[in-house]
Amino acid sequence: MAEKNLIAWNVDAGDYPSSGEMDEKLKFLLRYAVLAPSGPNNQPWKLAVDGNEVVVMVDFDRTLPDVEPTNRTTYMSLGCLLTNLLVAAEHFDLGYDVEKFPDGVDAETIAIVKFGEGSGKKEFPPDLFDEITQRHTNRGAYDDRPIEAEKIEEMKAAVGDGGFRLDVLTDPKGRAKMAEVLGESHKIQLGNKAFRKDLARWIRANDEDAWDGLPGYAFGYSDFESYFGKFIFGAFDTSASRARKEMALMEASPAVGVLSTDAEDKRMWVEAGMRFERLFLTATKLGVRFDLFSQPVAIDPLRQKMAKILDVDYPQILIRMGYAPPAKHTPRRTAEMVLAEGGS
Ligand SMILES: Cc1cc2nc3c(=O)[nH]c(=O)nc-3n(C[C@H](O)[C@H](O)[C@H](O)COP(=O)(O)O)c2cc1C
Repeated sequence: MAEKNLIAWNVDAGDYPSSGEMDEKLKFLLRYAVLAPSGPNNQPWKLAVDGNEVVVMVDFDRTLPDVEPTNRTTYMSLGCLLTNLLVAAEHFDLGYDVEKFPDGVDAETIAIVKFGEGSGKKEFPPDLFDEITQRHTNRGAYDDRPIEAEKIEEMKAAVGDGGFRLDVLTDPKGRAKMAEVLGESHKIQLGNKAFRKDLARWIRANDEDAWDGLPGYAFGYSDFESYFGKFIFGAFDTSASRARKEMALMEASPAVGVLSTDAEDKRMWVEAGMRFERLFLTATKLGVRFDLFSQPVAIDPLRQKMAKILDVDYPQILIRMGYAPPAKHTPRRTAEMVLAEGGS
């Protein structure tokens, strides 16, 4: 891994400061937290360490006002970060207590997590820890090999119940219906100039040294294509060709999943994100790759269509699933950078 903006992925558990002060330990845990996935890799978080507490805050300068005025995926992404943080805490045998939205749901602080030594708390399977550095979004074509029924059951169990649910469609008809919804969402959203401008802020050429955003290689673009793609994306409507390509990939994949909730508000989005990351780490352990789509969920009539197909209340994220060789990681700000920008 030569690129500087990928160094966050090189975290080594052997470097944990086991005889250090609590705040040093917590700063180390943040190295795992910041590897979480987020909408267009906008990493909409600010973090602070204060004694035995980690403060997790939303960074409103990194949200997508035109793509998603409700900040749904922003809160889900913060939930993903919380799961990484807690999985890492359990690995290093730190106990924790999470207080969500201590200043109310409209405040910047999403959660304050208080840590203590050795409580033996185990809410996550221990084998998820090693998957934090392996997990990645994979937008390539998947093998046509089906996903085994036991693996699908394990993924559903990772999401759990109590208002949350994972549906997995493996029949060609079901997959085709979701592909159609995805195609429609692309046509509507990418045909909208304000939306494209909002998203273009996070599109990068392959050789850019940015610490966030989506490099062209994540979509399979060559260096040359990625350089021009960055400008073309903001300026021109390329929705039809993009929609066709993504629909074909979805129809050809062995499974399509949808994570849904039975209610929604900011708390539910954070919790949905926490469970989604638990699901993503579980899938990584099982060798199952994910490609993610929030577009159809962001357009109300399409979201309702998805809800009707699945007989659920609130679809939160659409997932293409299957087997493929690993893809390259995308840039991530290091814990030290996030701390310097956002807190102590
Ligand atoms: C809540 C959420 C929504 C996402 N929505 C999309 C999406 O609509 N389209 C897409 O291409 N990727 C989507 N992603 C994937 C992110 O772009 C990806 O996680 C990010 O670029 C970081 O890459 P990584 O997952 O390989 O670490 C989403 C991720 C999350 C957590």
